[in-house]
Amino acid sequence: MRKIFFAIPAALCCIGNIYAANVGIAKQALVGEGIVEFVPEQFDSTVTPALILSHTPVKIGEKPAGWKLSPVYETTDRGGILATVAVPEGTSLYGGGEVTGPLLRNGQKIKMWNTDTGMYLVDGGKRLYQTHPWVMGVRPDGTAFGVLFDTFHKADLATSDDKIEFEAKGTPFKTYVIDRNSPQEVLKGLAELTGTMELPPRWAIGYHQCRFSYVPESRAKEVAETFRKKQIPCDVIWFDINYMDGFRVFTINDTDFPDPKRMNDFLHDNGFKSVYMIDPGVKVDNDYFVYATGKENDVFVKDAYGKEFHGKVWPGDCAFPDYTRPETRKWWSGLYKDFLSCGIDGIWNDMNEPSVFDGPNGTIPENCFHLGGGNLPAGRHSMWHNAYGRLMVEASRDGILAANPDKRPFILSRSNLLGGQRYAAMWTGDNAASYDHMKLSVPMSLTIGLSGQPFNGPDIGGFAGDTDGDLWGQWLGFGAFFPFSRGHASCDTNDKEPWAFGKDVEKESRMALERRYRLAPYLYTAFYNAHKDGQPVMAPVFFADPADPAIRAEEQAFMLGTDLLVIPAFAENPALPKGIWEKLSLVKGDTKGKYQAELRVRGGSILPVGKIVQNLTENSFDPLTLVVCLDENGKAQGNLYWDEGEGWGFRNGEYTQIAFEAQQKGNTVEVSIKDRTGSYPLELGKVNVEVLRNGKTYRASGTLDTPVTVKI
Ligand code: GLC
Repeated sequence: MRKIFFAIPAALCCIGNIYAANVGIAKQALVGEGIVEFVPEQFDSTVTPALILSHTPVKIGEKPAGWKLSPVYETTDRGGILATVAVPEGTSLYGGGEVTGPLLRNGQKIKMWNTDTGMYLVDGGKRLYQTHPWVMGVRPDGTAFGVLFDTFHKADLATSDDKIEFEAKGTPFKTYVIDRNSPQEVLKGLAELTGTMELPPRWAIGYHQCRFSYVPESRAKEVAETFRKKQIPCDVIWFDINYMDGFRVFTINDTDFPDPKRMNDFLHDNGFKSVYMIDPGVKVDNDYFVYATGKENDVFVKDAYGKEFHGKVWPGDCAFPDYTRPETRKWWSGLYKDFLSCGIDGIWNDMNEPSVFDGPNGTIPENCFHLGGGNLPAGRHSMWHNAYGRLMVEASRDGILAANPDKRPFILSRSNLLGGQRYAAMWTGDNAASYDHMKLSVPMSLTIGLSGQPFNGPDIGGFAGDTDGDLWGQWLGFGAFFPFSRGHASCDTNDKEPWAFGKDVEKESRMALERRYRLAPYLYTAFYNAHKDGQPVMAPVFFADPADPAIRAEEQAFMLGTDLLVIPAFAENPALPKGIWEKLSLVKGDTKGKYQAELRVRGGSILPVGKIVQNLTENSFDPLTLVVCLDENGKAQGNLYWDEGEGWGFRNGEYTQIAFEAQQKGNTVEVSIKDRTGSYPLELGKVNVEVLRNGKTYRASGTLDTPVTVKI
């Protein structure tokens, strides 16, 4: 039975038009460098289990003397618990996960109640598919803090210039405050609490082509073949719901795909991977093995009367796995082995808010019941709703890993919870084919990256509605630099492949993707840093100079990794960081391309850049190019991380990490290897060096066994 919490009113006060009672802090302790845990009175871990954190933090000391940022807890007459954190004057606020609206979150209100919101229209776009109870603040001097409200219950988050207010239904929750020297350090702290994304397989950082749906087999093959014929780089072809037999998950219809292995072999032979969709709703059909075994194992969510809950999704009446039960997660995980055995490489978990077409508010009724088990308590759907997608992807990941233990799982999920980067990447759901949503896709992805999820991106080109060549070209021109870069389209729209808009847009699309693929060594290194330290792959411009107030709200331009600035073609007067930022050309003609984003390299950095490849199983090196941009003191440095791109050998040292350095000496620049670690046998061979300086490029090449000298 679910425990019920009764607050004991200590003192009544008024917040706006509601009455509240104070809840004291029972415990507070230092649990990490600059991380304080606050535990309110009456907190009960059996009622509010930690799904967000990757482990239970351990006390390492007392709350530091002079610590300023602490939550004040109150109960409210709306049956909620309100935590308020007063923030210092002049603070810029960020985060909250998947949001619409501006990057700078001062003065914003959002709801945390995972919702299938086509074109972000529900509640004016203030309630989306995921829940990230997390806010980051950057003070005027560039020091930063983060506040994590450790609950997945339904909640409201309001961020104003002087306070952060978070009101959650249900029971008291812990709050973690991280206070460090920079936003980067705060995100590292968030990763210390919630874990990081596992290193993805390298193919997943290539370009992905999707549509609702590529059927039959001949159409999917045609799309794949056209990429190769037209020499437009691409790594993945996606299979949306129409591949299934009557939308029954874990089945493939043999009219469209008579031999699924043949389909996947074809893709593999042509350097593609395949990702297939799996939704949570299981068609109610006694002759269907997933439903039948689910029923037998009693895995489905129950209604208020204890009967199996049914609601409509794509296949009609569906039952919904109760992922709070360990038995359900085991059964669900077990379904993947056979399914993947025809050569499927990745999984797309969708509709997992969960979305129920005929349910109240488009989901499972709040009075339905989850049984729990292990350390998860039984409770109503009202309590478990925001954790549904997160528990689903954990089970999916377990199953995929068990089926293919030597491969890195790739899962894309629409719904998730803060900390869910441990299990799945995400996309920002059903956007519209509009210039507004194109522009919005930048702050959306940035905010998600500032909320612990580095592997994200939108449906490039826009999902709903027709897309014309200009919109597609504009969007891909910078969309090629999203961490997750995928074109997708709904079932009733025009074709949205890079060649679907005529020759000029095709040329621009090829150019944009060739730029991404040339950057693969740099991008993979950024993914490695995200995996190690929780750093965003796509970061706001203010990360280049957190103490510069002029760039705090910039949301057109963005950073890819730490050293590359991406300025989309649509950007008007972007606020850019001070200092040296040299323009970068990666493909012939790209700086003049109508739709190409402007790329600029940070003074003081060295970018490892590969050659143009058609997919990321091809050798990016031969040659490696080092793009050098010196700082004011004539120095630069950079890193390359590389490994097999698949499997777990990197955990045992089978990787190569190289630190490069450059130093100006009179009218020459010497570029050399400073340090090399790891046992992965990456042969660099002859390396090209390009020094960017005052708008000019100076070139030389050499083996780097000795420094390469470039005349400037
Ligand atoms: C949902 C997804 C969308 C997908 C469609 C059909 O709307 O968000 O990406 O194409 O379902 O599966």
